[in-house]
Amino acid sequence: MILGAVFRALGAHPAGWRMPGAHRDPLQDAAVLRRTARAAEAAKFDYLFFGEWLATGPDLEFRDPDLLARIDPVSSIAYLAGVTKRIGLIATANTTFVDLFTLARQTASIDRLSAGRAGLNIVTGADPRAAGNHGREGRAGTEPNYDQAGELVRALRLLWDSWEDEAFVRDQRTGRLIDPDRVHRTDAVGDYLRVTGPLTTPRPVQGHLPIVHAGTSTRSRQLSRELADLALVAQPTLEEAVAFRADLRAQARALGREEGAPLVVTPVLPVVAETKAGAQGIYDQLLRLVPLDDGSPLSRSPDFPANRSIRALSSAVGVPLGTPELDDEVPLRVARRFAEGGQRILETVAARTGRSVGGEFAITYRHLLATHAVPTSAIVGSGHEVADHLEEWFSAGAVDGFNIQTPFLQAQFTAFTSSVVPELQRRGLFRTEYEGTTLREHLGLERPQNLHVAEALTARARHAG
Ligand SMILES: Cc1cc2nc3c(=O)[nH]c(=O)nc-3n(C[C@H](O)[C@H](O)[C@H](O)COP(=O)(O)O)c2cc1C
Repeated sequence: MILGAVFRALGAHPAGWRMPGAHRDPLQDAAVLRRTARAAEAAKFDYLFFGEWLATGPDLEFRDPDLLARIDPVSSIAYLAGVTKRIGLIATANTTFVDLFTLARQTASIDRLSAGRAGLNIVTGADPRAAGNHGREGRAGTEPNYDQAGELVRALRLLWDSWEDEAFVRDQRTGRLIDPDRVHRTDAVGDYLRVTGPLTTPRPVQGHLPIVHAGTSTRSRQLSRELADLALVAQPTLEEAVAFRADLRAQARALGREEGAPLVVTPVLPVVAETKAGAQGIYDQLLRLVPLDDGSPLSRSPDFPANRSIRALSSAVGVPLGTPELDDEVPLRVARRFAEGGQRILETVAARTGRSVGGEFAITYRHLLATHAVPTSAIVGSGHEVADHLEEWFSAGAVDGFNIQTPFLQAQFTAFTSSVVPELQRRGLFRTEYEGTTLREHLGLERPQNLHVAEALTARARHAG
């Protein structure tokens, strides 16, 4: 089973930073980055994963506070290359705005600095404000953005291959440092990108960095089946995830890719404690810390999300709720009238908090509204129960592994590494020691042959034949 740790300093739950003892000062992110990386490595995670968001604004304070202002992903993994020894380091780059040659150099460099532990997640981005930050008018649209992303991945691989592994002959006697026949000019010209090599960095230790791709559209799926080593996929149910992975791989196979490509990983947000009741208590507290529209000055701020009012909840549950207080219990007679969407919210709250309508621990409007306002893929339980969930998805063939999101640091990451990881190891589902040294080896991916070497071998074989 692949396990990646998604690093979000302020936590993956928008209210996480408000929990008692949680990290909440972005000016101290470097210390948390170091601590989390070392803990993830001690737990033998395959990789640390850094998402990317190229724009910011006050609206993110409520929607996704971790994205407001933070250390960028490429800088983070460059730094961690020197602080860690074995764990893989994956940074996200936005293919719409990144400079291709710079990205090829940076990633090849970090792969050298980390002795083959770097990976690259590519996204096309979704925030229209990113365009202005990069001197553009706007986003071109899904089709051109994905065409450009495909060109970028192919060009990256060409640039990484511009130096053959044996290019440095280092002949002290003759004074020949390189074999010029093993350094390639590399022109890549497409509809969106144009680049001339060779790269100013030697070939990455891994040959090519593993390419991860996260997206949601049909074009995203196409990119994954053609070019990704690892696809980051969020499917709503186990059945849909099984079908998606099988379909993606069958299509990749039809394109001539090797069996088992691409690997598929899904994000999950475990809330873990020693007992289920303890974990439900933590989730309950997270819900109570989600700012809702309660007439307070905070909820009157211009950027406060519109989906956090009783009116928004009325439309989500399909019944007019009137004007109850947020902490009023939801009466049984009202809950009974909820439409399907409302019943789903009730079930989610009940499963994650242990509360029930009209029970000793009653469900309030606050619970419903906070759950509706902050949709997450939370799994709430003991280490054993969270491991059960991961095992179920893994064994059913829904995924090859998980990107673990931590609701808040550091306590919840410690809870995961000290209870879920040992349980997975006991079940023989997860490594107890690193066997390989590179990220490719952790993931079970072959090191690709240099394109120019492959071409020369093919030509020689043809000539001999
Ligand atoms: C699990 C997952 C993680 C993602 N992480 C990011 C991210 O960090 N940054 C980003 O710009 N897009 C990320 N995306 C993709 C965006 O949600 C968005 O779908 C994409 O950038 C636009 O491509 P689309 O047109 O295929 O949806 C992620 C998608 C998934 C499924």
